[in-house]
Amino acid sequence: MNGTSFGRLLRSGALALAGTLATLSGAAFADTIKVGIIGPFSGPFALQGKNFQAGAEAWLAQNGKTVAGHDIELVYRDLPTANPQQARALAQELIVKDKVQYLGGVYFTPDAMAITPLLKQGNVPLVIFNAATSAIMNSSPLVVRTSFTLPQTTTPLGKAAVERGAKKFVSIVSDYGPGVDAEGAFKKAITAAGGEVVESIRIPLNTTEFSPIMQRIRDSGAEGAFAFLPSGPPTLGFVKAFSDTGLKKAGVKLFAPGDLTQESDLPALGEAADGLITSFHYAVSHDSEVNKRFVAAAEKAIGAPDLLSFPAVGAYDGMFVISKMIAATAGKQDAEKAVEAVKGLGWESPRGPVKIDPETRHITQTIYLREVAKDAQGRWINKEIASFPEQGDPGLAK
Ligand code: PHB
Repeated sequence: MNGTSFGRLLRSGALALAGTLATLSGAAFADTIKVGIIGPFSGPFALQGKNFQAGAEAWLAQNGKTVAGHDIELVYRDLPTANPQQARALAQELIVKDKVQYLGGVYFTPDAMAITPLLKQGNVPLVIFNAATSAIMNSSPLVVRTSFTLPQTTTPLGKAAVERGAKKFVSIVSDYGPGVDAEGAFKKAITAAGGEVVESIRIPLNTTEFSPIMQRIRDSGAEGAFAFLPSGPPTLGFVKAFSDTGLKKAGVKLFAPGDLTQESDLPALGEAADGLITSFHYAVSHDSEVNKRFVAAAEKAIGAPDLLSFPAVGAYDGMFVISKMIAATAGKQDAEKAVEAVKGLGWESPRGPVKIDPETRHITQTIYLREVAKDAQGRWINKEIASFPEQGDPGLAK
């Protein structure tokens, strides 16, 4: 090889390399943005995690796996029950080892509280698909939430409960963040409506035996009961025991946020839940075109219609929010800019019209009053009977 041709070869090599670099940094190159999703994918709450997955995958199925030229990869991490230490370790691993640019999911409040201190240093926003204690939003400016809070869902219940003829109430809640929020919100709402809470009972999060609590409800002499427990085996056990121990038949009126009657529990509850009045942000039977399309896609992802419930819509809308963050930052890792971009964002969710409150970063939405009833096909549903539009979180009101 003579000097000239060697020089030409070198130059063409350099040109090829420059070309490759140009492609790498140019818009034509589809990079991959990882989204870490933490949820209960095994154990007693596995169905709640499967609903996260079904919601997220329904969004990708409808909108494609590429956002503004960037491929999205979902990385799932299993956190079976409330376990702050494990939550922190999983989030750390996702940020440091897997290099996720976004975190999503999180079913339980204590897990969310353990993760938020990592966000700033990791330069990663967290979009909460479920964890529902108001104060989580105050723990980091990099959190956005697409679920609900207990004060938000509970507040409309006060008037509804008094209107149905009960005045004296006993309140039963799981003894942790969302339970304490629910207890306070119900007390405030029922007092404003002219009723009264005569006894407040807090039960451990891991309670599985409910007959002693049913006895206390009976002994309180209250005409009505208010209850919040996290959706899953606790709510199934509570509603069953309320019926099995005869309280329902005795005419004690039970009111609750919709966590107690998630659709995936209704076939097993059957008559035990019949007529139960709840208030919530989402019913699988919500009548809208957007919801019909969502339910079809989410049912396909989860495998059976009966398994679908509210965590799926939190995840679906959470993916929408993350897609807007990705587009606004042109795929670059900038948590602050990403969160800034979705403040005030509004859209039509399968639950109805929603908006990310620019002040609180929590979702503003319609809260529905519902009654457990059978639909025309004989399936148990949460039938919407009244709606309260544009509800922010009273738990975060300044
Ligand atoms: C929570 O831990 O924040 C939580 C879990 C399940 C629910 C509601 C709230 O149904």
